[in-house]
Amino acid sequence: MLIARTRGALDEAAAHLRPRGALALVPTMGALHAGHLTLLAVARQAAPVVAASIFVNPTQFAPNEDFSRYPRDEAGDLKKLEGAGCDLVWLPDVAEMYPPGDATAIEMGGPAHGWEGAVRPGHFRGVATVVAKLFGQVRPAAAVFGEKDWQQLQVIRRMAADLSLPVRVIGAPVVREDDGLAMSSRNRFLTPAERAAAPQLHGILCEVRDALAGGAVAAHALGSARARLVADGFAPDYLSLVDNETLVETDRAGGHARLIAAARLGSVRLLDNIASQ
Ligand code: PAJ
Repeated sequence: MLIARTRGALDEAAAHLRPRGALALVPTMGALHAGHLTLLAVARQAAPVVAASIFVNPTQFAPNEDFSRYPRDEAGDLKKLEGAGCDLVWLPDVAEMYPPGDATAIEMGGPAHGWEGAVRPGHFRGVATVVAKLFGQVRPAAAVFGEKDWQQLQVIRRMAADLSLPVRVIGAPVVREDDGLAMSSRNRFLTPAERAAAPQLHGILCEVRDALAGGAVAAHALGSARARLVADGFAPDYLSLVDNETLVETDRAGGHARLIAAARLGSVRLLDNIASQ
């Protein structure tokens, strides 16, 4: 596994790997878990060469957010990537990503509006900008993102299409713990009591899906689900039914619609989503 920390080293590693064929990139912020490693397996199916990047991107965290306490474990991550058969790891530092005089950012409307975009102003500006930079640096033929961050996946698809970036954006299914909790680097901050309650977020999403399949009115099903979350100790930011791609709210379940939710549990913000049928 090649490890690059500078653009020079990255270009050299990429040139070395190029004869093997197309490259698929898995962008991450590290603190890797089984969900991330599934993205690597999806990348492996998409291209003969697999690269991962690890960069805790400061511009996607608001000043009041958890940038400084975001978990970092470079040695552990490199071991996991090696075990997963990763060919190349790109580990830029902040100056490499945001050089002095840096004056360009990607501002998005459409799917970046609302939900995470509303609760975390500037978040998708930071995500879209860093992902575009990663695409420019690594120049992958394909890139894999998790459906865990459903809105992020739609934002990146839209950004790549709008900017005519020559990269195929691939979504990979949410990887869950046995009890249904979506894996996340932030789950380690849950207290044992919170960890025991956390799978309820997924459980309630499944109940809404089943209620909608049984003919329930969306507004009623969503309203009582939000109330149940509060009763179970969550502070929900949203629990909504939205169009898969535009993230515009809808009142009809179906193949075109997704149930999305975000809620705080203690000091941790949990995100989840499922197909609405
Ligand atoms: P990070 O939170 O590290 O996630 C990296 C990738 O792993 C994302 O595409 C995310 O959706 C995916 N992922 C995380 N948990 C998952 C799970 N349980 N199942 C499936 N996929 C999962 O998302 C980011 O980093 C950043 O915003 C990034 C895109 C790297 C830009 O900085």
